[in-house]
Amino acid sequence: MGLNGIPLIKPGDDIPKIIFNALKSNNITLKDGDIILIAQTIISKSLGRIINLKDITPSKRANEIYQKITPKAKDFGIPIKSPELIQAILDESIEIIKSEHVLITETKHGFVCANAGIDKSNIEGETNVTLLPEDSDLEADNIRKDLRELTNKNVAVIITDSFGRPFRIGAVGVALGVSGIVPIIDKRGDKDLFGYELQSTIIGQIDNLSSAAQLLMGESDEGRPVIIIRGYVFQLSENASINLILREKSLDLFRTKNILRTRRSYKLEFAPKIVDKKIIEECIELARWAPSAHNSQQWRYIIMDKGKNREKLLNRMNKKLRDDLEKDGKSEEFIKNKINRTRENFLGAPFLILLCLDKKDIEVYSNSERAQNEYILGVQSISASATYLLLAFEMKNIAACWYCAPLFSQKIVKEVLKLPESFIPMAFFTAGYPIKSLKAPKRKDLNEIIFNL
Ligand SMILES: Cc1cc2nc3c(=O)[nH]c(=O)nc-3n(C[C@H](O)[C@H](O)[C@H](O)COP(=O)(O)O)c2cc1C
Repeated sequence: MGLNGIPLIKPGDDIPKIIFNALKSNNITLKDGDIILIAQTIISKSLGRIINLKDITPSKRANEIYQKITPKAKDFGIPIKSPELIQAILDESIEIIKSEHVLITETKHGFVCANAGIDKSNIEGETNVTLLPEDSDLEADNIRKDLRELTNKNVAVIITDSFGRPFRIGAVGVALGVSGIVPIIDKRGDKDLFGYELQSTIIGQIDNLSSAAQLLMGESDEGRPVIIIRGYVFQLSENASINLILREKSLDLFRTKNILRTRRSYKLEFAPKIVDKKIIEECIELARWAPSAHNSQQWRYIIMDKGKNREKLLNRMNKKLRDDLEKDGKSEEFIKNKINRTRENFLGAPFLILLCLDKKDIEVYSNSERAQNEYILGVQSISASATYLLLAFEMKNIAACWYCAPLFSQKIVKEVLKLPESFIPMAFFTAGYPIKSLKAPKRKDLNEIIFNL
């Protein structure tokens, strides 16, 4: 049943009272077990969750996103988002999931949807938009309590919105907040028609109800933001929360992080969690798909787990480091700090990987300039593979860092690890699970690195 005659909502309006009055004018008496579905827009308006885009100053990032998505949106015939709207979306989001012709983000509540749920429709004022309520569960709880006081009936309340879907056309109703009804029905363990035990069936109860209500609410000017569902049998719940419906990130197969941006050089302590050597090998397997000059694949990776070899190698390398720094005239304090840090970094990491350049894979020329260039090509090629390696680690949530130390102790590394003569030690990579996330260091502005001729 749709409630007709709900007035335009203003900040501060009492939604339960408005629903109560509308029930009366629609000649509807609430019954225990009714489900009241309320469009998010009126909740947001009553809470004053309205902003005027004119009051927003877009950041550099918002402008960059604007430049990126606008041509694509034009190609797809999708409305153009202003930098101000993009900024408002960023302000409401914790992560951008996709910025292509549309802008899909994860909101502060954990919802993944277009435009962080910011809505331009059904609100007066050209540049006014509504933001999602900060806590829709709380709003649903409050409305349910107030309606119980006003009507003496125990109902369930769902606050709804409509979200587009990744694999199908057409927005459907979804729940943003809930009170009195469990969000999902876990059918696992029940029997199907033929007596087989259901292994994975979980029914999105409140989203299904929201979708049904959406059909009556309408999306445009129908103005029926409150719907009552009667006769649907459900289990009352006093501690329902929308959080039960949000899929854990680790189980979200479709979430891709932009590893090119999220990868960081991790130089801190690692978590005690054990890293399976297979993961390290899988990452090296990916690193070999890097491009290389003449497809020579000059890279060799030596995996060192924690053990005596590492300790011995580090002691020798640090002795040389001390000599080098003393020759440079560095203070004892500086030297001690540097050596301690090196020990912590290289001995503390669950895995230490040495990258070597194999001279055997470098083409030999008698012309010294040509030979030098072939060497550079080798270095460039193994660097490409090293970058792939770091990205592969990032993909598998392994923290890592590239260190140049072996370059300065090539002889020692070769001796201690008894490497083949043709191997040239080039870099170390530490790898393990992180305990902290890192802030990205600043990058140069694009106009410093791009030259258009
Ligand atoms: C060739 C190369 C050598 C590096 N050597 C070291 C090193 O010896 N010590 C260190 O702390 N970081 C080293 N790094 C990591 C850089 O400091 C790091 O990539 C840079 O600060 C940018 O940070 P980000 O990787 O988190 O974006 C090296 C990186 C590269 C590419």
